Amino acid sequence: MAITKDFKTMRLADTLEETGLRGKNLNFLTDMTKEQLMSLFKAAEMIEPYSKSGLELMKGKVLCTMFFQPSTRTRFSTETAMLRLGGSVISESNPLSNSSAAKDESLSDTLRVVSEYADIIGLRHFNDTTIFDDIKSATVPVISCGYGNITHPTQGLLDMYTAYRALGTLEGIRVLVTSPDLTRARSGQSFAMGLARMGAEIVYSGPSELRTPDTIREKLDSTGCKYVEHFDLSEKEQEELIQSCDLVYLPGCSVPKGQDAREIFMKKAKNYYIKLETLEEAKKKYGKTIGIMHSLPRFAGEFDFNIDKTEHELYFKQIGFSVPLRMALIASMIGC
Ligand code: CP
Repeated sequence: MAITKDFKTMRLADTLEETGLRGKNLNFLTDMTKEQLMSLFKAAEMIEPYSKSGLELMKGKVLCTMFFQPSTRTRFSTETAMLRLGGSVISESNPLSNSSAAKDESLSDTLRVVSEYADIIGLRHFNDTTIFDDIKSATVPVISCGYGNITHPTQGLLDMYTAYRALGTLEGIRVLVTSPDLTRARSGQSFAMGLARMGAEIVYSGPSELRTPDTIREKLDSTGCKYVEHFDLSEKEQEELIQSCDLVYLPGCSVPKGQDAREIFMKKAKNYYIKLETLEEAKKKYGKTIGIMHSLPRFAGEFDFNIDKTEHELYFKQIGFSVPLRMALIASMIGC
């Protein structure tokens, strides 16, 4: 036995600093290294026992959330995380009606102004192109709580943290990201980008006409991440693919009711439906428990809700892991 080279007492402040996130914006998970991602998960693990009782790490600090699109989980979880860190929250859940955005104030000016009140901003927005220029006017870190169709990094992080806690490692795991529409699957894309960075194997399955956007594939390619794409599989081929994986991720549909893209998703969903029998058969054949993950909200045509009562269910567990993960993220980005 030998004493490890870096043997020392564990300090949360050091682990938070090692994420490299202090003062930075969070846009894409491919912007983080494997080591930085691992430091974030370690910090979340250190915080997890206090995620209900709280820690006074961010006393006196203010989080401002501005959500230009609807949300239940991301806004409440991010705000809960700041409150459990001992900080305060100011929030606008409908800025297009209730803030000066309704008077045509630019996003860039809004963020510059809000930076004078808050120490960190949580922003959800429908734009996923010019927003990266707009957020440069903020003088405090901005957390993307979902931009347009392409990125939802905090969802990706909480999903990765859940998978890490469930499996003990992310390296070498095989994960299927499957959806009737991979062009609008920002949570699944963020999960894939982060996981691929950790050395996981990513397998996509979806319709050829609604494949993963170029922007995401370019990011995966430029960071040397491993992924393969399957298109228009038969029911049997899709079942075999599911059974070859450790986890199956369903990004759901983030398009609001009444829009064409939501109708298209619903129509194609039956080709990607996950049956409980497929998972039970894999357990019998290969002795493994395939985890089913979903960013939620879900709808009945996507998978068998009897999975809720089985060991395959990870989608509600993801919610519980979101708070310590976001506590670690906020504390890393503000610094303590
Ligand atoms: N998963 C997710 O982003 O959910 P909300 O839209 O409710 O925030």
